[in-house]
Amino acid sequence: MATRGGDPVGFAMGRVAAQEAEVLTLAVHPAARRGGAGAALMRALMTAAAQRGASDMFLEVSEQNAAARRLYARLGATEAGRRRRYYPDGSDALVLRLALSPCGAAPGA
Ligand SMILES: CC(C)(COP(=O)(O)OP(=O)(O)OC[C@H]1O[C@@H](n2cnc3c(N)ncnc32)[C@H](O)[C@@H]1OP(=O)(O)O)[C@@H](O)C(=O)NCCC(=O)NCCS
Repeated sequence: MATRGGDPVGFAMGRVAAQEAEVLTLAVHPAARRGGAGAALMRALMTAAAQRGASDMFLEVSEQNAAARRLYARLGATEAGRRRRYYPDGSDALVLRLALSPCGAAPGA
């Protein structure tokens, strides 16, 4: 959960199974975007996953979601695959991979 002035502005959820982590949800309130909350939430998720023993984190993002794709790219994500017509609007999902350092540091963030 990310807060500003005590109010929640966004949240992220993930899970870890053995050495692999997955981002389930990441969202920041529209009024609070471009303030660093999304990147902070992702870094917190990466740190938490690394602390639980994960070495890689995977996520799916619409190829049309420029904001999220740029955020993940800045965190060092690389493309690991593509799910064709994954979303209801027919767009593809990109499967991205983030390599987690043992201490959870996010390169390039
Ligand atoms: C994607 C999302 C979580 C980003 O949250 P945010 O708090 O705005 O992100 P940040 O402020 O931490 O931005 C970090 C970087 O991401 C990129 N970014 C974020 N929003 C962007 C936008 N609208 N356009 C282009 N780049 C963007 C930028 O590189 C930005 O760094 P900068 O502001 O220094 O240029 C937010 O837009 C959101 O909730 N979107 C709807 C839900 C969603 O798409 N979730 C992801 C599903 S996979």
